Amino acid sequence: MKGFGPTTFGELNAEEYDALHDPGTTEACVDLIAELAGDGDVLELAIGTGRIALPLAERGLRISGFDASPEMLKILEGKPGGSNIETGIADMASFDLERKYDFAFLVFNTLYNITAQKDQVACFQQVANHLRPGGRFLVEAFMPNRESFENNQAVRTKHVSFDSVWLEAVQHDPVAQTLNYQRIRITETGTQLKPLPMRYVWPAELDLMAQIAGLRPVAHWGGWQKQPLTASSDMYVIVYEKPGT
Ligand SMILES: C[S@@+](CC[C@H](N)C(=O)[O-])C[C@H]1O[C@@H](n2cnc3c(N)ncnc32)[C@H](O)[C@@H]1O
Repeated sequence: MKGFGPTTFGELNAEEYDALHDPGTTEACVDLIAELAGDGDVLELAIGTGRIALPLAERGLRISGFDASPEMLKILEGKPGGSNIETGIADMASFDLERKYDFAFLVFNTLYNITAQKDQVACFQQVANHLRPGGRFLVEAFMPNRESFENNQAVRTKHVSFDSVWLEAVQHDPVAQTLNYQRIRITETGTQLKPLPMRYVWPAELDLMAQIAGLRPVAHWGGWQKQPLTASSDMYVIVYEKPGT
């Protein structure tokens, strides 16, 4: 999508992110990451406004993170405990933090915000470069349902009220594995557009990206409660490990 770069998500969404982006799984996500990460050094890629990092820090995890968006990080820093979390500006596809970690994670479909396959592969490589031997990388994302599209497109009504309507239009390209979303808010004062291009990745391709980066899978789950990953799962939580020396 023309004009959409690593900083665009934050420019368009930071102000309303916390109010409008609650997947309803935050507690379960925090529980599982706390269990898996233990007392090592933890890195969150695309840390955003700290939805996951702040509760993990409250539980005593040694967590830091980065994001492409200064607007998202500013909101994190303004929250209680936010300024205690070390953050920086970096791109998931090319970050170099000159440090090693024991656990890294990338949740809430954010791998899909990297819209080129080669850059998703590069992200895995950068994660592998930042892990200590035995270190782990967790990725969580949705699995698209083709039946929710007609002719590879859909328009969904997200909210209707007396003076506004919010719609979501999406075009699906199953060859490129892209979903081009446009979230449309129509009110008496005008129309607001919030585009969101994504490239989705099936678990088998994710495993291959990990393999290219020298990581091996240690868990394939269909949700935060460690449900089995099956053909009817609508999301995955997959964990990779960097082999020990
Ligand atoms: C859906 S939010 C997820 C934020 C947070 N991890 C959470 O779970 O609430 C996506 C985040 O990815 C960031 N982002 C998008 N593209 C990025 C990139 N190429 N490199 C780093 N961060 C990026 C956005 O700024 C935003 O903070």
